[in-house]
Amino acid sequence: MQILKPKVIVTGAHGLLGSKLVRLLREKYDVYGIVREFRQPYAVDGVEYIEGDISKYKLLSKVARQLHPKFIFNAAAYTNVDRSETEKEACWRTNVEAVEYLARAARLVDARVIHVSTDYVFDGRNGPYREEDRPNPLGYYAKSKLAGENVLVASGANYAIARTMVVYGYSPGVRMNFVTWVIEQLRLGKSIRVVDDQFGNPTLADELAEALIVLAESQIQDIFHISGSEVIDRYHFALAIAEEFGLDGSRIERIKTADLNQAAPRPLQSGFIIEKAEKTLGIRMSDVRTGLRKFKQQYQPVLRQP
Ligand SMILES: NC(=O)c1ccc[n+]([C@@H]2O[C@H](COP(=O)([O-])OP(=O)(O)OC[C@H]3O[C@@H](n4cnc5c(N)ncnc54)[C@H](OP(=O)(O)O)[C@@H]3O)[C@@H](O)[C@H]2O)c1
Repeated sequence: MQILKPKVIVTGAHGLLGSKLVRLLREKYDVYGIVREFRQPYAVDGVEYIEGDISKYKLLSKVARQLHPKFIFNAAAYTNVDRSETEKEACWRTNVEAVEYLARAARLVDARVIHVSTDYVFDGRNGPYREEDRPNPLGYYAKSKLAGENVLVASGANYAIARTMVVYGYSPGVRMNFVTWVIEQLRLGKSIRVVDDQFGNPTLADELAEALIVLAESQIQDIFHISGSEVIDRYHFALAIAEEFGLDGSRIERIKTADLNQAAPRPLQSGFIIEKAEKTLGIRMSDVRTGLRKFKQQYQPVLRQP
């Protein structure tokens, strides 16, 4: 006899976090991934993919009515921090309007929305931050992510929000993140410039995905800080990456954020205190070195490729 599993929807299913979520969720759930454009090399076995833009309410309401999902994980976002300063409309559509539509679609069928936000809701003057600290987003991406949180909280849908930061990991096809960029540049013998005045908690995407599933199943409606357990600046994180992967750390030049002339301001003294998530949800997140060692196991096959 075939046992019917509860259905779940994951938006951004080809992204870094989304790809980890669909892989883990398959064990217990019938998983449907919403992707803007289906790409076969990124596809995970056993996952049904639905093409569409999450800023279209019609799509979301239709899919929700058809599937009656238990959970909707929102791992889709407009994530280009600097480009959002000029592509404001596109950023707002995905990070705010789409969240409102997801919440409305979820309400139609009593689904629970698990939404992902960021430490960029804070200004980085006095981190690490707890959940009850006052947000003060600096750039447009940051403002849109805070507005996305607010529309979900106000929506009346069953929700949970996980704020995270400096997410890294590997899935076939996903774009580079800080860790894979450092490794690949150093492997090629290139020199890199890395800022020593941005602090945050590096977060292994696999651990974040596991924690989000625990959060979904908890039924708690609240905001949680979920990240790796340790605060570190980017320069020393890059040195730790080089050391763990046996690469030449002397090629990492130490610079300041101001040297980069980026379009969007960054929260500098950021970081999370994750005590609330650890105590309430019973999750354990790795420190910097433990996370990197776990990551090394998944990245070894890629390193062996010619
Ligand atoms: N990565 C980090 O360091 C970090 C830090 C803090 C918070 N977060 C948050 O974590 C979440 C996941 O981030 P991630 O790093 O996994 O991002 P990602 O790899 O950039 O994935 C985001 C996915 O969303 C999809 N998407 C964007 N707009 C869409 C739309 N309108 N309709 C449908 N799909 C859309 C993208 O599709 P396309 O590929 O087609 O564009 C992409 O696959 C986001 O909410 C992000 O704000 C990430």
